Amino acid sequence: MKLVFATHNKNKFNEVQRLLPKHIELLSLDDIKSFEAIPETADTLEGNARIKADYVTQNFGYPCFADDTGLLVRALNGAPGVFSARYAGPNANANANMKKLLEALKGKQDRSAQFETVIALNLKTETKLFRASAPGKIITERKGVEGFGYDPIFMPDGFDKTFAELPIEVKNKISHRGKAISQLLTYLNTL
Ligand code: IMP
Repeated sequence: MKLVFATHNKNKFNEVQRLLPKHIELLSLDDIKSFEAIPETADTLEGNARIKADYVTQNFGYPCFADDTGLLVRALNGAPGVFSARYAGPNANANANMKKLLEALKGKQDRSAQFETVIALNLKTETKLFRASAPGKIITERKGVEGFGYDPIFMPDGFDKTFAELPIEVKNKISHRGKAISQLLTYLNTL
């Protein structure tokens, strides 16, 4: 079975490819020559994951899965949430996003937050959703150099290191995306 993972991110792709059963041939957006940016216009993670998976299935005919992730901060009523990638502006990078978040939390007592990932799997006949989260807190200054995005300021519950200080194998076991992918893999292994 050919299955598309709707991503251009090679790291994410390789990580998942290694874990798939042999009868599934995983293809990336580049493999199917899907080069246009897919507009993520929904206001929920689930909505955006569905848009990306449905776009590929409708335009290229393959079954497909897509993921969408957000960082939800309690003292900010769940912001930046679905807008995490663009928190500090449409072309914001991780540094600008972290800077804005640290400023927004200045003086706040409650620094609890969680990452959430939704994966939508469009199998043409039906769509399945997988959702997982990683609870933790936003610390007051950046620590660590691993990972990406908000990792240097996110400390998962039960650890005294940020995601950017933890080895990738540890992060993958406890992270929102790691847990959602493991649900997806369990399901794909039953097909
Ligand atoms: P995406 O849906 O995977 O593109 O993620 C949306 C945004 O959330 C990214 O631009 C990152 O800033 C942030 N993000 C997603 N996953 C992680 C993570 O594992 N660590 C830190 N930031 C993340």
